[in-house]
Amino acid sequence: MDEKARGLGSESFRRDLGVDYAYAAGSMYRGIASKELVLAMGRAGFLGFLGAAGLSPERVGADIAHLRAELGPHRPFGVNLLADHRDPARETAAVDRLLAHGVRVVEASAFVKVTPALVRFHLQGLRAGRDGGVVRDTRILAKVSRPEVAREFLRPAPSGTVARLVAEGLATAEQAALAARVPVAQDLTVEADSGGHTDRGVSTVLLPALQSLRGRLVKEFGYAEEIRLGLAGGIGTPQAVAAAFVMGADYVMTGSINQCTAEAGISDEVKDRLQDIGVADTDYCPAGDMFEIGALVQVLKKGALFPARANRLHALYQTYESWEEIPEGVRRQLQETFFKRSVDEVWRETCDHLRRTGREAEIERAERLPKRRMALIFRWYYGYSSRLSFTDPGRDPANVQVHTGPALGAFNQWVRGTDLENWRNRHPDHMARQLMQEAEHILAEHQKRVS
Ligand SMILES: Cc1cc2nc3c(=O)[nH]c(=O)nc-3n(C[C@H](O)[C@H](O)[C@H](O)COP(=O)(O)O)c2cc1C
Repeated sequence: MDEKARGLGSESFRRDLGVDYAYAAGSMYRGIASKELVLAMGRAGFLGFLGAAGLSPERVGADIAHLRAELGPHRPFGVNLLADHRDPARETAAVDRLLAHGVRVVEASAFVKVTPALVRFHLQGLRAGRDGGVVRDTRILAKVSRPEVAREFLRPAPSGTVARLVAEGLATAEQAALAARVPVAQDLTVEADSGGHTDRGVSTVLLPALQSLRGRLVKEFGYAEEIRLGLAGGIGTPQAVAAAFVMGADYVMTGSINQCTAEAGISDEVKDRLQDIGVADTDYCPAGDMFEIGALVQVLKKGALFPARANRLHALYQTYESWEEIPEGVRRQLQETFFKRSVDEVWRETCDHLRRTGREAEIERAERLPKRRMALIFRWYYGYSSRLSFTDPGRDPANVQVHTGPALGAFNQWVRGTDLENWRNRHPDHMARQLMQEAEHILAEHQKRVS
């Protein structure tokens, strides 16, 4: 049975990535996708991505060193590379560190275009194969939920950026020539509605549309290598895994279900709450890191006031031009029940944080622009509610922010009454194997019925 489960999805994905299964566990920020989680996946022949976003460079470096030592050269792992729209230099520095640490595979997320930092990572791994083909020693799995972003990743690297890197001595002329023959990413993870940041895509709409786009671009650029599209978002049961492969997904990726496992880097109290949720226990609210533009995250609704409160803050932000303009009674309520401290204290903590992270200019800007200052005050609430979920959710349960999606609710239903009902028995690699094996069984049964 396991042999057949290994046969699901793209054979070249398994070969190129050095894994036994076409199944990956996606990144989860601040080490929720911990080194333990990635290690468990890697040892069992699956690909796991370290949740590097929001961790210090020192911590990421130490986690990578640990993974390399434990997994050795033949078991792969990946690391999240998050777009930094505000500060491209930070993105470049992150890529330099990943390359210095010997990281071969990154999950690129939140990108809207191919940046110089991404091109640098891509070019660094290119070399000519003996058969005349292009060999990739570094790989970008790009997470996309929109066709226009997919299109960017499915083109060869922009020639201007490539030329600049060659001029700066950061890539060779041979790598530049090879880059013209392949897309920046050979693997795109098509992300439908998911836990955490989401564009609320529908997998049965998004995957076929991007498969058509892939077909057109392969023809236009005449690529020789196979371009693979994986599917993420809403996958928490064997039926969902089977459906993904029936739709032609080359690999599947899970997220929400892995947060509620023994290895996940989040507090036990949060896992206790997550292990019982159903498929209707999540909600949407504006994301803290993209508060002003109103990008959405999917979060836990059951037993939490966070999503309602985050939506309220966004509505206030849209209605008023400054904190001072908000009616006195509302301001009092926010300080007493949302922030649990005075707005002066919130502002002081915000300024301390911005100074610590070298962003003094933002303080000056906010002092000049009252609406910006209000946004920063409200964004503090996101930081506070997120920190609670890692440290001490019991202290202020109503305000805890937990990113999760309904795939976990479906998983919880599936394992009800079994050992896996208790998260302490849940391990991401065991779950992955079981999901793949049962999906293979469903597909075999289906085949019998139709033949
Ligand atoms: C708690 C949580 C944190 C996440 N953090 C990240 C992240 O830092 N970077 C990223 O690329 N994706 C992140 N994701 C998305 C997952 O990697 C994955 O793509 C997604 O969860 C798949 O959809 P599902 O939740 O429906 O399984 C996160 C998801 C969750 C649930």
